[in-house]
Amino acid sequence: MKITTETQICMAIGDPVKQSLGPSIYNDIYAQVGLDGKYVYLACNIKVDELKDFINAVKVLNIRGISCTVPHKGEVMKYLDEIDEVAQKIGAVNSIVNDNGQLKGYNTDWIGIVKPLSKVVDISGKRIALIGAGGAARAVAYAVVSNGGNLSIYNRTQENAKKIIDDFGGKSGPLDSPDIAKADIIINATSVGMHPETDKSPISKSLMNPEQIVFDAIHTPALTQLQKDAQDIGAKTISGREMFIYQGIEQFRLYTGIELDEQIVRKQLEKAMADKTHAR
Ligand code: ATR
Repeated sequence: MKITTETQICMAIGDPVKQSLGPSIYNDIYAQVGLDGKYVYLACNIKVDELKDFINAVKVLNIRGISCTVPHKGEVMKYLDEIDEVAQKIGAVNSIVNDNGQLKGYNTDWIGIVKPLSKVVDISGKRIALIGAGGAARAVAYAVVSNGGNLSIYNRTQENAKKIIDDFGGKSGPLDSPDIAKADIIINATSVGMHPETDKSPISKSLMNPEQIVFDAIHTPALTQLQKDAQDIGAKTISGREMFIYQGIEQFRLYTGIELDEQIVRKQLEKAMADKTHAR
């Protein structure tokens, strides 16, 4: 890596941030696509009460791109100069671009849902059972509705599901609703099943059918219990790794202007995951 006075900084922020795969993926990719020395990718642990100072530092240091993870996606919005219309509708920013001191917030999570799904199915007119009603679910709801999908939200707390329905339309119900079985596509946007609680699933296997496509936004593990159950009964699955790849390609484009080949990211993600496993 050849850092010079021209090198632009991109970084992931979160609290915690040590699980971020960004540095191990994007620095290698910069080298592979001829951007070695043009960009460097770091990760920084920022607490919520440090966000305001951090944003000032972004301007002073002229940091080019910031990828926001939990818990900053909502809170960071109040410190930005401009917010993209879609990010505004979703109510969360996961990417910030610094153009000569003007900070604009974007959301690329929804693209991470649309791109992998569109490869295997036409979302328009399909019945989509969205499991969960937190921040991630709002990006999924936008992805579904903006592509003509028929949205139903199932969640532990009905009040939270209703809030999303108010903004995006559709129906809501509990996690044991028999209507889940009638959906064409199930998308999990809860944290249930995420490492380390990998034996948990947000819904019962009896609510799935073999014709369904089951997409899990969780990317660690690559195959969640929900997806193991889906595969057991013959349903198709899409891994959260796909979401990670496509939302990242869009972030890369926002920061550098370059459209990455998905195979480059896929290969680099596999390498980063293998290195992480070895390091454990
Ligand atoms: P994120 O921003 O990652 O979406 P979040 O806003 O905290 O995180 O939302 C987490 C989602 O996972 C919510 O839908 C939450 O359900 P509630 O609205 O009832 O809180 C869901 N969730 C988390 N733990 C759960 C559990 N043990 N069982 C069922 N749902 C759970």
